[in-house]
Amino acid sequence: MSEQLESYWMPFTPNRQFKAHPRFLAKAQGMHYWTPEGRKILDGVAGLWCVNAGHGRREITEAVASQLETMDYAPAFQMGHAAAFKLADQLTKLTPAGLDHAFFVNSGSEAVDTALKIALAYHRVRGEGARTRLVGRARGYHGVGFGGISVGGILPNRKMWSGALLPAVDHLPHTHNLSKNAFSRGMPEHGAELADDLERIVTLNDASTIAAVIMEPIAGSTGVLIPPKGYLQRLRELCDRHGILLIFDEVITGFGRTGSPFGAQEFGVMPDMITCAKGLTNGCIPMGAVIVKKGIYEAFMQGPENLIELFHGYTYSAHPTACAAGLATLAIYEREGLLTRAKALHKEWEDAAHSLRGLPHVIDVRNYGLILGLELQSIPGKVGARAFDVYVKCFERGLLTRQTGDILALSPPLIVESAQIQEMFGILAEVLRAA
Ligand SMILES: Cc1ncc(COP(=O)(O)O)c(C=O)c1O
Repeated sequence: MSEQLESYWMPFTPNRQFKAHPRFLAKAQGMHYWTPEGRKILDGVAGLWCVNAGHGRREITEAVASQLETMDYAPAFQMGHAAAFKLADQLTKLTPAGLDHAFFVNSGSEAVDTALKIALAYHRVRGEGARTRLVGRARGYHGVGFGGISVGGILPNRKMWSGALLPAVDHLPHTHNLSKNAFSRGMPEHGAELADDLERIVTLNDASTIAAVIMEPIAGSTGVLIPPKGYLQRLRELCDRHGILLIFDEVITGFGRTGSPFGAQEFGVMPDMITCAKGLTNGCIPMGAVIVKKGIYEAFMQGPENLIELFHGYTYSAHPTACAAGLATLAIYEREGLLTRAKALHKEWEDAAHSLRGLPHVIDVRNYGLILGLELQSIPGKVGARAFDVYVKCFERGLLTRQTGDILALSPPLIVESAQIQEMFGILAEVLRAA
């Protein structure tokens, strides 16, 4: 292993394996990365589900550079700067009507922990302080903060910290069911009734103790789980019935991934809060946000006006460069129609995806908007080995995918062209045939 690789402790990466066989990226433009040797790699995953407008957008670079030259930093507390207010205004115009106040953070994980804290505090300021229980879902991913891993449902992300997770958390079952829903196109037919498990949790604890349910409209990191038809509606109804807040974690479904600006609009279900990050700045400057309903914001705007209403925030909340990047990004999305482009491409994407059916080891193909989940049969006793092999071979042939267990995901920049869709699935098919 090269000495130079030793110091960096890489996140969510088998460090020793990587350092023995490194994969480096050196440059990016449009739909592509380049390796240091100059090999061109088609970006099938928008970096990490974040570069929705494609790489190297000059407008964003210029906006960030200009902001840095004008004012590099402004204190986030007790002071304001124009771009923060403008971005909050524009962002809340993209979310469903009524979700109209934005709290800025620096990542998806911070957005999640912020939303959970707002949920607990919201009930408390309204005199329902017994509502301290949070509900997540098995296989859910909500980042890596203590709140996020507590409501999250991915075992390796939790087990090291199992004694230190938030105390009052329940999980709904996940909706993955290959025996009934394998090779679904779009939303699977079966599984809406799984939302009813919330009634079990209510019966066990009483609704008066439950603050919020948090859910990814489409679960991404666990390997792309599309909500069954009617499932999210049912969950909304149950939350309404019991006075429970519904938080949609839209860190990957936000900003056009599904064919609508947010999953909430795409699936026709209005949550009480939305968490987002990634595509907010096209991935180029860290930033996230929690967007809340008017009623939630207003519940805090009580009491003496000289007092801070929410004791929460970050040094870099609404950082000027992140706001500049966000404003430039939203302008590109709007001008190029990117937040709905996945709708126009969805049929072509779906047909190309399902052409993989029947190839060796393929046990499921699932898709929505510009998202693919491709599940492979695990090698007995070696979960993840098969998909990792496909992932590496795709990279060697010039395609970047994302691997979790034995599932591969694709989620390209929303500027993807037809020929590139064909190229992606062509490479995947070629690799699978040789697997
Ligand atoms: C649904 C969801 N929530 C939260 C996060 C965490 O975001 P971050 O890595 O920016 O902290 C992610 C990241 O992939 C995500 O997919």
